[in-house]
Amino acid sequence: MLNQVTSQLANEDETVAFGSKLATLLSKTLGRVENRALCINLEGDLGAGKTTLTRGFLRAWGYEGTVKSPTYTIVESYKVDGVDAEVFHFDLYRLADPEELELMGIRDYFAKHAVILIEWPDRGEGILPKPDLIVSLTHQEDGRTLKITSEFFTEDELKTLI
Ligand SMILES: Nc1ncnc2c1ncn2[C@@H]1O[C@H](COP(=O)(O)OP(=O)(O)O)[C@@H](O)[C@H]1O
Ligand SMILES: [Mg+2]
Repeated sequence: MLNQVTSQLANEDETVAFGSKLATLLSKTLGRVENRALCINLEGDLGAGKTTLTRGFLRAWGYEGTVKSPTYTIVESYKVDGVDAEVFHFDLYRLADPEELELMGIRDYFAKHAVILIEWPDRGEGILPKPDLIVSLTHQEDGRTLKITSEFFTEDELKTLI
């Protein structure tokens, strides 16, 4: 069953706070999968807030350093002391061909005990697996509309995010 919740994010702080709630849900549920990562697709135009929410996620995960969008490197890896799972932040905006992901060894990333956040997932269509959660951010005059869709998470779990 496809579960879905929507909400509004009035400003940058609310986007960061959403990222932090996402980190809480993911740390509670990572144990539910074995030998694979939990995968979150981040959809939305340039400037929608995908990197901002990823920063909120990583702060809540305990990462204190800089979080930049990996626009040129395609992927940035994060490992925090005391947390066994890794976090991989992908930005596929500059990917010319989804096949490049195969050359990067994308399958190895998805086989890890990790959370994977992917900006511009449509650029990797055909290669990326089905996500466990889709976050979609849309520009409004003030703030953003947040839509969260998932088959993996229950509606009650999704409600903890809004
Ligand atoms: N809910 C929000 N309302 C208004 N502005 C926001 C909100 N969330 C983030 N922003 C701002 O929008 C911009 C989003 O940038 P960024 O997170 O890099 O977007 P993306 O990664 O989607 O391209 C930042 O300047 C940030 O301060
Ligand atoms: Mg970005």
